[in-house]
Parts: sequence; C-alpha cells; structure tokens
Amino acid sequence: MDLNKRPDTMERITTPTLAKAFIDEQVKLIREQVKDKKVLLALSGGVDSSVVAALLIKAIGKQLVCVHVNHGLMRKGESEQVIEIFQKGLDANLVYIDATDRYLEKLAGVEDPETKRKIIGAEFIRIFEEEARKLEGIEFLAQGTIYPDIIESDGVKAHHNVGGLPEDLQFELVEPVRLLYKDEVRVVGYELGLPKAMVDRQPFPGPGLGVRCLGAITRDRLNALRESDAILREEFDKAGLTDKVWQFFTVVPDFRSTGVRNGKRVFDWPVIIRAVNTVDAMSATVPEIDWAVLKKIADRILSEVKGVCRVLYDLSPKAPATIEWE
Ligand code: XMP
Repeated sequence: MDLNKRPDTMERITTPTLAKAFIDEQVKLIREQVKDKKVLLALSGGVDSSVVAALLIKAIGKQLVCVHVNHGLMRKGESEQVIEIFQKGLDANLVYIDATDRYLEKLAGVEDPETKRKIIGAEFIRIFEEEARKLEGIEFLAQGTIYPDIIESDGVKAHHNVGGLPEDLQFELVEPVRLLYKDEVRVVGYELGLPKAMVDRQPFPGPGLGVRCLGAITRDRLNALRESDAILREEFDKAGLTDKVWQFFTVVPDFRSTGVRNGKRVFDWPVIIRAVNTVDAMSATVPEIDWAVLKKIADRILSEVKGVCRVLYDLSPKAPATIEWE
C-alpha cells in the first residue's frame, strides 16, 4: 500500500466529528511510530506546521521539540503569536531563534529576487541544522506536508521541506496531515483548538516580507512594510474583508518619490496595496474595495508609518501581473 496515496474511500473531513476521529487516529499512529523518542519540527506559524505541532503535542507532549526561526521577515506580531499559542497556551517544548540580524546581514545589498529566495531558504536550513545538532536524541522529523504538496511536487514542500539537511542528520519523517487537503487541515486545526487567526491565515510566502521589500532589503523599508501591512490587515478586518479577499498585503519598492511634509520637501518611499481573489493562485482578479476603506488605510499609513509619502492600489490582475511583486 502506498502510504502517500489518498485512498479513494477516504472521507473528506468537513465536520468537527470527522476531524475528531482523524485526530484520535493520528494520535494513536504517532504514538505507535514515535514511542518514547523525540521529534523535531520546524514551526513557521503557517497553518500546516501549526496543525502538525498541535497534533504532535496532543500525542507526545514534550517529546516534540518545535523550532521557530524568526528570520526577521515575518508579519507584525506573528512570531509573538507562535510563542503565545504554543509555548504559553499549549506548554510546548519550543526553541525560539531570533535570526533577524543574521538574515539581514546575509541579504544586505542583494537585489535579485531569486537570489534573495535562495539565501533565505539556505539560511533556514543552516540554522535548523545548527539547532538539530545541539539537541540530543532526536530520531524523527515532523513536517507539515499536505496532499497537494505530494501531488504537485513529489512531496517536496518549498517552505517546510528541510530535506536539505546533511546525510548525518536524516531523520525518519512524521507527516500526519500528508493525505489532507488544505480545507481539511483547517477543520482539524479548529478541532485542535487553534485560533481562527492561525487556522484561517492567508497564504504567506516562505521568504515572507523579503519578497515584498523590493530589491535590496533595508531595515527602514522593512519596517515601513511591516507597519503598513499591519494597518492594512487591521482595517480589512474592521471592514469585514478578511474572509472575503483571498490574499492582501503591502509592498515597498526600492525607489523614492517626492513629497511634502510640514512645508518641506521630502523624498520618501511609496507603499503599494495588493489585494487579490483567486481559486488556485494560477490566475487572480483584483477586488473592488470600498473607496472609504482604501482612503482610511492610506490616511493611516501616511500618518503612522515613518518614511512613507505615497500610497497606491495595485489594479493588475494575474495575468499579466503575478500576485507577488518579485
Ligand atoms: P505569484 O506571485 O507567483 O504567487 O502569483 C502565487 C502564490 O504563491 C505565493 N508565493 C510563494 N510562496 N514561496 C512560497 O512559499 C515563494 O517563494 C512564493 N512566491 C510566491 C504567493 O504569495 C501567492 O499566494
């Protein structure tokens, strides 16, 4: 039997009752597989790794060691949320690594988007490897692989996969949600008690804000990006748009434009608002956001975010534009 093939008879998990049955079964299977050994998990705070973490905590408690690497490219409050939920809420064995300086040094002056992605990915593997070497008695590696990852990319998940670890650090895999579709992972996440903000989180690229701070990343623009993104999220939430728009974020380009503040000329950054609706991210449309909502967001960004003098709304569908800017 191919353990990576979803049986035709497997019922779609759509209700809390079905989710509970799945959780009970997985808890049993995980205990059988892991016994009294330790399991390592890279916990990004995304839906899939969070659900896997919660499942494993339920099954084996402190035998799970979660490593959360803050690469400094997280959205505002996201690393704090991971700590709050897993360390404080679920009493997880959580190793938190603030690698912001390390990443920003590596990325300094790097303009090419693909090179940026490679550096962010490679640095993650390096940090994860360092942590894995510090820990003793780890025999398993848990991953948030889901069924589309298996179908679409032979089980290689760009932002979860730590398969780039060296030979002597190859662990047996624990992938409890590998046969589930995203919507099922969410139902299971709710049943495990994870909060809506985490379970319903919109897709967030592995390289995080790194590909939204265009060109060579600088701290000032990264800060403008994080703060403007937080304002956008807050105002979309207030306007009831969070569940209606598939993905939304801000982008800060690497050019300045002229502005005027307190009667003086300034040369500051623009902020671009990007919002899209899509089914599969292959094509996307731009939602018509209420003018008053956009105006409120623009006003707040212009008055609250340092170094920004202009706000734009991106009207480009995919194709020809991609969802992300780089
Ligand atoms: P594009 O920009 O290609 O984005 O229209 C389609 C979807 O993929 C996400 N995306 C990424 N996700 N690593 C990821 O894990 C990446 O490097 C990456 N680039 C884009 C994007 O946010 C959108 O949901």
